[in-house]
Amino acid sequence: MPQEIPRPENFEELRFRPSEPRIATTAELKKTRLGRYAEIGPRVVLREVEVGDFSYFERGGEAVYTRIGKFCSIAANVRINALAHPLERLTTHKISYRPNEYFRWLAVDQSVVETRKAHAVTIGNDVWIGHGAIVMPGVSVGDGAVIGGGSVVTRDVAPYMIVAGVPAGPIRDRFPAPIAARIAALSWWDWPLETLFDAVPDMQTLAIEAFLDKWENQSPVPSASAK
Ligand SMILES: CC(C)(COP(=O)(O)OP(=O)(O)OC[C@H]1O[C@@H](n2cnc3c(N)ncnc32)[C@H](O)[C@@H]1OP(=O)(O)O)[C@@H](O)C(=O)NCCC(=O)NCCS
Repeated sequence: MPQEIPRPENFEELRFRPSEPRIATTAELKKTRLGRYAEIGPRVVLREVEVGDFSYFERGGEAVYTRIGKFCSIAANVRINALAHPLERLTTHKISYRPNEYFRWLAVDQSVVETRKAHAVTIGNDVWIGHGAIVMPGVSVGDGAVIGGGSVVTRDVAPYMIVAGVPAGPIRDRFPAPIAARIAALSWWDWPLETLFDAVPDMQTLAIEAFLDKWENQSPVPSASAK
């Protein structure tokens, strides 16, 4: 008879990998908050950004003054919030708004900083942004939306809309409206880890309607204390 190995006391919790954000050593982060399991790839630059749980930036991405929800997939070389230079001044060059870089007695022009901050970008939950896309200042991208590779997004993107091109325009809805509404109501991105663990096999095998039929009737178990 093989000897039975006793299970450790925390056997159930061992399902969960450590939830600390994973940050590449070459990434540069300034005044940025990262959620659980957030992942920041090599050479990513983030300034005044909030990154929700499980969202990740592939290599070379950049964002500034941006709030990002949970479970977003951000491909390599994506630029979120391509900041504006002043178009109405003598020059668009930073000599007018960052003169401190050249002259000791002149300070950063706070009016330009404030204008930029007033045009923050908001990205919802479960948004996929394709390779090299650019999201312009002030844009909001809804939950579940998809932005095609190489797109320039100049206008707000509705939830569960797939957009692409320069400027980005609608390609199609990701789901019919009633299905999108059911997913939005489910708010699965707020589920505790235990529920997500149990739901992953169904995500893989059930068609979206069958998944919703099953999981709309289950109440998520209380939140895990994963480390
Ligand atoms: C946007 C995207 C998800 C659309 O996928 P899809 O719904 O299967 O779209 P299709 O391939 O059927 O294309 C539909 C139309 O959109 C156009 N299109 C698709 N992606 C486009 C893009 N990125 N830019 C411009 N046009 C695009 C197609 O040419 C096609 O146009 P047509 O109807 O005139 O022929 C996909 O094309 C894409 O860009 N994925 C991102 C891939 C990526 O960057 N991966 C990096 C790793 S994370």
